[in-house]
Amino acid sequence: MKVCVIGSGYVGLVTGSCLAEIGHTVTCVDSDERKIEMLRGGTIPIFEPGLEEVVARNCTEGRLRFSQSIPDGMQGAQVVFICVGTPPTASGEADLSFVEAVSTAVAHELADYTVIVEKSTVPVRTGERVKQTITRNNVNNVEFDVVSNPEFLREGSAVGDFLAPDRIVVGAETERAAAVMRELYEPIAKKHPRKVPIIITDVNSAELIKHASNSFLALKISYINAVSQICELSGADVGKVAEGMGLDKRIGKGFLSAGAGFGGSCFPKDVAAFRQIAGELGYEFGLLKEVLDINELQKLLPVKKAKQALWVLKDKTIAVLGLAFKPNTDDIREAPALCCIRELLKENAKVRACDPQAAERTREVFPDITYCENAYDCVEGADAVLLMTEWDEFAKLDLPKVLRLMKHPIFIDGRNLFDPQQMHEVGFEYYSIGRPQKSRAPTTVS
Ligand code: UGA
Repeated sequence: MKVCVIGSGYVGLVTGSCLAEIGHTVTCVDSDERKIEMLRGGTIPIFEPGLEEVVARNCTEGRLRFSQSIPDGMQGAQVVFICVGTPPTASGEADLSFVEAVSTAVAHELADYTVIVEKSTVPVRTGERVKQTITRNNVNNVEFDVVSNPEFLREGSAVGDFLAPDRIVVGAETERAAAVMRELYEPIAKKHPRKVPIIITDVNSAELIKHASNSFLALKISYINAVSQICELSGADVGKVAEGMGLDKRIGKGFLSAGAGFGGSCFPKDVAAFRQIAGELGYEFGLLKEVLDINELQKLLPVKKAKQALWVLKDKTIAVLGLAFKPNTDDIREAPALCCIRELLKENAKVRACDPQAAERTREVFPDITYCENAYDCVEGADAVLLMTEWDEFAKLDLPKVLRLMKHPIFIDGRNLFDPQQMHEVGFEYYSIGRPQKSRAPTTVS
């Protein structure tokens, strides 16, 4: 099929290149001339494992190209994806002006029956607005359908998530549009050994599935983080509690890792937006307020623990290991590490930081802290370490070497990356989230 993807940011680029990977002919469009030039030259503007290879392969094999022009990209396209940004406004609402502008531009180019797919994360009922906008600007009265096809891609594993998803959600008003979408995703649904289910719903339900899924995952994280606090107060181990809970299939073990809270461009924004939308519709979703409140407290827990261990933070050297909101990305949006750095600077601590991918971006926010090439440089002379992102590089650290390099052996693990017993044996004064300082007798599953 011929596909046009408008917006070549994170979602658009992954969607476009993966649709090419499964055999479609795709044009990715973006108004940013620099970005299009970069992509044409084979440079990927974001760090996403595996994406560069998929883009290169599909460009070489002639299934993927980049354009700055919507009319050019839409030529002959049966399916047009809208993947433009929906950044939050000051009040927490999503700014839908890009979606509106693209919908208008698409309407002007319609020549034959086209399925227009809204893939950007949008408030429920945006599909209705997109349809209204296209209808108003559809001067030639060409047949079209608007479909909602939310994405469930995680940064760092987006290519794998696209090609082997748990489910594909399609909100369509007509059987004709649903059939086009089934055909589009057939290579994924059929070829995958698990047979990926395609769920066809109405447009509003599909939009709500996205909100409800992200908010539920965030709720799971805040729930286990709240439990981690009770573990600390009672001497229990949140790792064991999560394991015991997660073995119940009704609960599931995913998203039960306690730590320094969730960040990123999705959960914080989406939970706030869902709450706002629910309010506008007439339902006060207080549960989601609690999810965000718990997360705010959790993000600063590593600094609180550093303060408890060191007493005064002024002039103390704190090594922050990890800046990205999670491993395998250079994304620092809403990253808990940045909240901690802000707090440490308020306390007049001296911050040294490192991250395998996200240091350059962080430099734009905090130009005056010290950035180090690697973890060993970072911890040199530190009064305490704050581990904020569970990068593989950090899991493999030579811990005795880290200990030797530090001024004081205080290690605060905001991601429960290490085993408390092992850290104690190496010689660290080790603090983690929701676990006793030294591990208890192992609990085994038989
Ligand atoms: C999230 C969803 O997982 C995707 O399904 C969705 O498509 C995406 O948002 C989106 O709406 O675009 P993402 O933000 O990339 O994906 O990252 P996650 O892997 O979900 O992690 C989010 C945050 O939660 C990270 O800060 C992570 O460290 C934290 N987290 C995750 C925990 O603290 N504990 C956990 O058990 C899991």
